[in-house]
Formats: sequence, C-alpha cells, structure tokens
Amino acid sequence: MTKRVSLTQYLVEQQREHGLIPAQLRLLIEVVARACKRIAIAVNKGALGDVLGSAGTDNVQGEVQKKLDVISNEVLIEANEWGGHLAAMASEEMDSIHVVPNRYPQGEYMLLFDPLDGSSNIDVNVSIGTIFSVLRKVTNTRGISEEDFLQPGKQQAAAGYCVYGPQTTLVLTVGSGVAMFTLDRETGSWVLTDDELRIPEDTKEFAINMSNMRHWAPPMRQYIDECLAGKTGPRGKDFNMRWVASMVADVHRILTRGGVFMYPWDQREPDKPGKLRLMYEANPMAFLVEQAGGMATNAKERILDLQPTRLHERVSVVLGSKNEVERVTAYHRDAG
Ligand code: AHG
Ligand code: MN
Ligand code: MN
Repeated sequence: MTKRVSLTQYLVEQQREHGLIPAQLRLLIEVVARACKRIAIAVNKGALGDVLGSAGTDNVQGEVQKKLDVISNEVLIEANEWGGHLAAMASEEMDSIHVVPNRYPQGEYMLLFDPLDGSSNIDVNVSIGTIFSVLRKVTNTRGISEEDFLQPGKQQAAAGYCVYGPQTTLVLTVGSGVAMFTLDRETGSWVLTDDELRIPEDTKEFAINMSNMRHWAPPMRQYIDECLAGKTGPRGKDFNMRWVASMVADVHRILTRGGVFMYPWDQREPDKPGKLRLMYEANPMAFLVEQAGGMATNAKERILDLQPTRLHERVSVVLGSKNEVERVTAYHRDAG
C-alpha cells in the first residue's frame, strides 16, 4: 500500500524542514481545513439541506447574499475564534473586521476569507470554493483595527483555497511551493495528493468573461483579439477558452494545467479597478500562483506589491502562465 500523508503530517514535516509553520499557524490551517470540511458537507446536501437560494440580505459591496455565503461565513468564524491563534478576521461578507472576543486569548495571526466564492454557481451545482489569506499582526499593541490588515500581499504568511467540486480539494502555500490535498470522505481526512503544483510558462488557454469585451480597455481587447485570430493571426496558434465563473475553479484549473485568468477594468464603472477584491481574492491567489511558478499582476504591477488602502478594495486581475501574463501586462504598460 502506498503511504498516505495527511495534512497534519505535511504541516509538521514542513515545520521541521523549513521552519515556516509555527504551532499557531499550524492550528490555524488545520482549523480552516476543518471548517472547509463542514462547508463541503453543507454544499453537498444542496436542496436537501435547505442551503440553496438567497438569504434575503445584501453584503457591504451591495451584492445579494446567498444562504451558503452566510452559512460559510458563520462556520469559518465559529471554528476560528476560540483557538488562540487569531487576533481578528475579515471577510467578504462582513462590513468590518471581527475581533476575537475578550474571553479568548488573542493570537498573532489575522485571517481573511471569501467564505464562498462563485456564488452564482451554487444553485446550478457547479464548482464553488472558499479562499483564505493569513497575515501576521505586526504591531505588538493589544488592540487591533482595520489598519493592521492593510499589508501588501507579499507579507502573507499563508494562503489557500478549497474547491467544492467533483472532488473536494484544498490547495495551500506557506511560502515554499504549493501543495494539494484531497478530502477522503470515508475517513474524513485531507490526504496529500500533489506536493508541488507547477504552472507551465506557456499556454493556449485563456479565461475571461467575454461578454464584457466591448467595455474593456484597448490593450485588453488587443490581447484577446490576437488569441481569437488563432493560427493565422499574430500569435500563430489556436487558443481555447474556459470560464467557470468561480475564480476558485478557474484558478484551480490553471494551477493544474496552466492558462491565464483575467478580470480586467471595464469602462462601465471607470473608478472601480475591477470586480475582484484585493485582500481575500486576488492576494491569496497571487501568492499561490507565484509559488507555483506563475505570475500575477493588476495588468500593470505585481499584485503582491500593492499597498491596500481599504479592506474591501477591488483590483484588476491577470494571473497564471508566466509568458501570457507578461504579454498582457506589457500591452497595458506600453499603452501608458
Ligand atoms: P463571489 O461569488 O465571491 O462574489 O465572487 C464571484 C467572482 C469570481 O468568483 C468570478 O471569477 C467572478 O465573480 C464571475 O464573474 P462573472 O459573473 O462576470 O462571470
Ligand atoms: Mn469571490
Ligand atoms: Mn464570495
């Protein structure tokens, strides 16, 4: 029988070899993984668990909350607040930060999450997921505020996501490569199924919501026009398009077999840099993608270098196979 490595064993061994996972961070990752298991169970129940449809409320970004958005948010908060590993949490579904209550010890980490990514896919039984990012509290003062969270993505201590799809998979980085775990439903444990995900530098696959094409900036349109021109066009090869509309599933495909994912600026809301959120969508995904040998920019600069100014700030996203991200970014830089 081949030896199975559990998430716990992986984390312990990583700490021994690289010293990157101190006890509080290990607890944090295990607690998040356990919470994702609970979310996976709720997702799998679907209509039988009364988890489909709208919750009848809006979040801080003015989006309608689905029942599963709210349930997943509660599961993550409940699981994480008592362990002593966190100082505070922030989420797509909460206006402001959630400070760990006084009755529990305060830890040195801060957790941000998109509890349920791909909300439009919940009711149609298409892959969805949870995205998370971990920061260290850098100041030693007892109190904590939103200010403490406003760190560039390159300061993340860990990042990951869980995909609730045909399989339930957890993908994780603590800054020394990217590992993937698959949930064994019979034993309830996360089993290491890939210890080093790598994104090929070249690809013939792009992911973008093409229905917005007429609203993009000229460099974005140029890039996609050239892909669409195929073999006889300037790129000299045919491209394929994939768009799940759950960032987590689109990024998972790219981490598995390469590709480029884009959610660009669009002229309908010129003051908004893009649709996706910097701190709990773009930053964790950018960290994972870079750790797997890929690249992630906001079409001009490296995402992980951006200094956030607000918790729910939005950003343009171009990430995946290095040579394509470089090309898209160069088109935008050249355009000024
Ligand atoms: P969320 O469900 O957390 O609000 O995120 C949805 C995001 C992202 O997952 C996906 O890539 C994008 O929205 C889909 O947008 P379109 O509706 O334009 O396809
Ligand atoms: Mn999302
Ligand atoms: Mn979400």
